[in-house]
Amino acid sequence: MGTGPSGARSLIVAAALLAATAAAACGGSSAALLPTATASPVAAPSASPTAAPVPTTTPAATAAPSLDRDLHRLVSKDYALPASYVPSDLVILPGDWAVPAFAPPVVRVAVAAPLRMLLEAARADGLEIRVRSSYRSYGTQQETFRFWVDYLGEAQARRESAEAGHSEHQLGTTVDLASASAGWELIAAFGDTREGQWLAARAWRYGFAMSYPRDGEAITGYVYEPWHFRYIGRSAAADWHASRLTLIEYLLALYGDTAPARSTPMPASLPPAATGTPRPSAPTATATTPRTPAAAAPPAATATATGSATPVATATATATATATPTP
Ligand code: DAL
Ligand code: ZN
Repeated sequence: MGTGPSGARSLIVAAALLAATAAAACGGSSAALLPTATASPVAAPSASPTAAPVPTTTPAATAAPSLDRDLHRLVSKDYALPASYVPSDLVILPGDWAVPAFAPPVVRVAVAAPLRMLLEAARADGLEIRVRSSYRSYGTQQETFRFWVDYLGEAQARRESAEAGHSEHQLGTTVDLASASAGWELIAAFGDTREGQWLAARAWRYGFAMSYPRDGEAITGYVYEPWHFRYIGRSAAADWHASRLTLIEYLLALYGDTAPARSTPMPASLPPAATGTPRPSAPTATATTPRTPAAAAPPAATATATGSATPVATATATATATATPTP
């Protein structure tokens, strides 16, 4: 997979923001999953992607978490982000961090290094985990939710897909992770794979919380999503893990009194749990499951890997305005 010249940056940005699941003409790379050397701007304010490995010791669960009201914004069926909320420090990650043929991940700069450490630690344990979906603009969420309502019906769609403004993906700190062992799909069975189990047991050590655990729907409002991880920082994640609360309960306990006003009422009741958890993702050209119409796949021939993170910067507004439905 070639790396485009600097003039290709706007195309890369547009492709990445068009759809985290865009099908790319490049069919993956023979390069290492996570390049080890980069002079990337991702390194700037926090740990560099090439920083020392994450310690193998578990952070003390009793340590007070680092409170960060920006990183810990409440996002749920009850709490929405404004339509205008776009993180100012989004970066595009190397294309080979993504599921093959999917667009390069886009996350906030502070998430890049911990995500790299997470994926590298999995790799060191013989597991390949990649990013299928990451930042989603408000507009993309609108299209995504509409897609799933059309495809699943509103009741089921609400169990799987967030209304615009209510998705943690808008934070730029959330990723959907996948593995070949589950066909790179976002399905409940991912939680039973070695990769899914590894993430469930260890992601918190790298600062990531699984937002929608099994049997958590009555609290979270969403079905089990063993692939959906939100970065909240290592100390908070350790504290959250020790709390055994769902992430939203934990964040409400920390910040509930100062949270933004409720914007969308929680449904009075939820339908019974589904027997087979469907993907909450809109389809792509490469998906093969019966639930995946191919029509929604946007063209992404320009979504080439960069080899290092690229700041999204001012391209965001333009790119989000032309976003195509994504999961
Ligand atoms: N699938 C999760 C709930 C989202 O849409 O953000
Ligand atoms: Zn997700």
